[in-house]
Amino acid sequence: MFDYDYDALREIGRIVARARDEMARAVTPGMTTKELDAIGQRILKEEGAASAPITMYEFPGYTCISINEVAAHGIPGKEVIKDGDIVNVDVSAVKDGYYADTGRTVIAGTPKSPEHVRLVEVSLTSLEAGLSKVKAGTKVNQIGKAIYADVRKNGFTVIRNLAGHGLGRTLHGEPETISNYYSREENDILKVGQVIAVETFVSTKDEIVYQSEEDGWALFTPNDSPVSQFEHTVIVTEDGYEVLTGTFREE
Ligand code: CO
Ligand code: CO
Repeated sequence: MFDYDYDALREIGRIVARARDEMARAVTPGMTTKELDAIGQRILKEEGAASAPITMYEFPGYTCISINEVAAHGIPGKEVIKDGDIVNVDVSAVKDGYYADTGRTVIAGTPKSPEHVRLVEVSLTSLEAGLSKVKAGTKVNQIGKAIYADVRKNGFTVIRNLAGHGLGRTLHGEPETISNYYSREENDILKVGQVIAVETFVSTKDEIVYQSEEDGWALFTPNDSPVSQFEHTVIVTEDGYEVLTGTFREE
């Protein structure tokens, strides 16, 4: 049904996961987001991959680094990471015509509050809840339903205007959106061999993000509530899924 080269997808999945994890491990108060981005840049180069945000959207950075109230599309730059910042790294890249996309959130230094620690934890548990619904024959909206239930159970909110997506030979394909809540319209049926990126955007209070007029990229919450994101690219299988961008928990 999909004439993908799955080994090429596994390869780019491994590469973006490596960049994501090396960047996440390097997060330290006092460094700039540009320095963090340079780690991603180096790894993509070493691996013969190209940054997807640059090649597709002329984004001004190799990876997206989004801090605190910035949920996504944070531009790496002079900003210095502070103790307690909630730092999200999102790496998407292309090699041999295939794309993969992954993201992870860590707290720099000492967390400001137990709530921040829980926020990061719940953005991961809700990703796991969403992924647990992934298998051929399931409707796409069952993923968002499961993410939402897990997030609400823990007293947090989901960002309604950010979502996961299909991918493969493009960064964004069918299905166009995999929301973090139940959406009636997302009634496509998952198929064996389909490649999707499931990602959570969990906040303490806000449910919508707005685009920065200052830089034209950063997507931020109006009440400054922090956002945490985790994202995996997976292949849909007969009875579940294969993660292309493993791992999160084994460290
Ligand atoms: Co991403
Ligand atoms: Co994505």
